[in-house]
Amino acid sequence: MTFRYMPGFGNDFETESLPGALPQGQNSPQRPAYGLYAEQLSGSPFTAPRGANERSWLYRIRPSVRHAARFRPTACERWKTAPNLHDHELPIGQLRWDPTPMPNEETDFIAGVRTMTTAGDVTTQVGMAAHVYIANTSMVDDYFFDADGELLLVPQEGRIRVMTEMGAMEVAPGEIAIVPRGMIFKVELMDGPVRGYICENYGAKFTLPDRGPIGANCLANPRDFKTPVAWYEDKETDCRLTVKWCGRFYRTEIDHSPLDVVAWHGNYAPYKYDLSTYSPVGAILFDHPDPSIFTVMTSPSGEEGTANVDFIIFPPRWQVAEHTFRPPWYHRNVMSEFMGLIRGRYDAKEEGFVPGGMSLHNMMLPHGPDAEGFEKATKAELQPMKLGDTMAFMFETRFPQHLTRFAAETETLQDDYIDCWKGLKKRFNGTPEGDWSD
Ligand SMILES: [Fe+2]
Repeated sequence: MTFRYMPGFGNDFETESLPGALPQGQNSPQRPAYGLYAEQLSGSPFTAPRGANERSWLYRIRPSVRHAARFRPTACERWKTAPNLHDHELPIGQLRWDPTPMPNEETDFIAGVRTMTTAGDVTTQVGMAAHVYIANTSMVDDYFFDADGELLLVPQEGRIRVMTEMGAMEVAPGEIAIVPRGMIFKVELMDGPVRGYICENYGAKFTLPDRGPIGANCLANPRDFKTPVAWYEDKETDCRLTVKWCGRFYRTEIDHSPLDVVAWHGNYAPYKYDLSTYSPVGAILFDHPDPSIFTVMTSPSGEEGTANVDFIIFPPRWQVAEHTFRPPWYHRNVMSEFMGLIRGRYDAKEEGFVPGGMSLHNMMLPHGPDAEGFEKATKAELQPMKLGDTMAFMFETRFPQHLTRFAAETETLQDDYIDCWKGLKKRFNGTPEGDWSD
């Protein structure tokens, strides 16, 4: 199978997988070509301002009303939804986890979701959840959609094929994909077992941050976002569609594939992005800017500059700042920071934070470089230095992130994380020079 994409962020795209399947000059012909049904998928209210208005027209073998029969409740035990408060007895604290082990039993992408934190409230469409996914089985006749939010997929191990109503994407570690709210999809594995992270965004759709004085280029450039071309399955076999709706799961059985969109046009669509195309901007003389300089995408909350959730990366880059403490500084934050590591090492924590692992620095809890990182950074000769093999990311939200019971009780939780700062010495001795004797 070949994957083809159209470049651009939020463009008005058009694509057809059979010639002439896409109507021209109108949306709703009396009889669409090939006997297809015309259907609109709205990602914003009809009346949203033009710049924020999102909808696509889908031309499909059957209308979506035929892709569901009666629903019955089903379970997805470890996928939790906000509000999910007081689910455990673990006190507040800075937390870090080792990678979630691959499953032993047969587990597909949906069954493999393990929620770590939830924030906000799904019923008012604010906040987010941070999940891990682990899977060893492809979804074949199983399909899924999430009415609660868009899904930002961050593969860490193993390529996945994300087959959506509007096209198929191959997504490798180092890339991310967005599946819009309500879009039916399934996930196939390409190399064996997979692991990664998901941000389930209940709030406003991710968009690109303004660049201010940076100007018209750098950070994530719009042309590097890729939306798949139309692709469909004309498959008549027993299939199951699972739906997540306000934190509950429902299943329905149908006798065909719901991925039957032959052509579409519009600006509400899935997309992927290669993180290596992110053009970082940073300090070129001294100090360094806030980590917001590494924002790939942001979900605004309605209050200016206060994100429902930001997706931030820490990519390979040069460090050149003179007379400067170069790692991230010590920090307390009204925002809550969930971090993961896709590959390599993270400069503030060279040990203990490993690819596939996670950390959580929740609202107003202090964090920063470990003792070893501090020692190294304060004694280093400040030559230009490349942070080469690294790709960490952060889901940063204005809402406190509540741990799930799974996150609080899993064996991968490190009980000694807090000790990484224990070795930070008192350097103050009343003299301007301070005590740097060891
Ligand atoms: Fe921070």
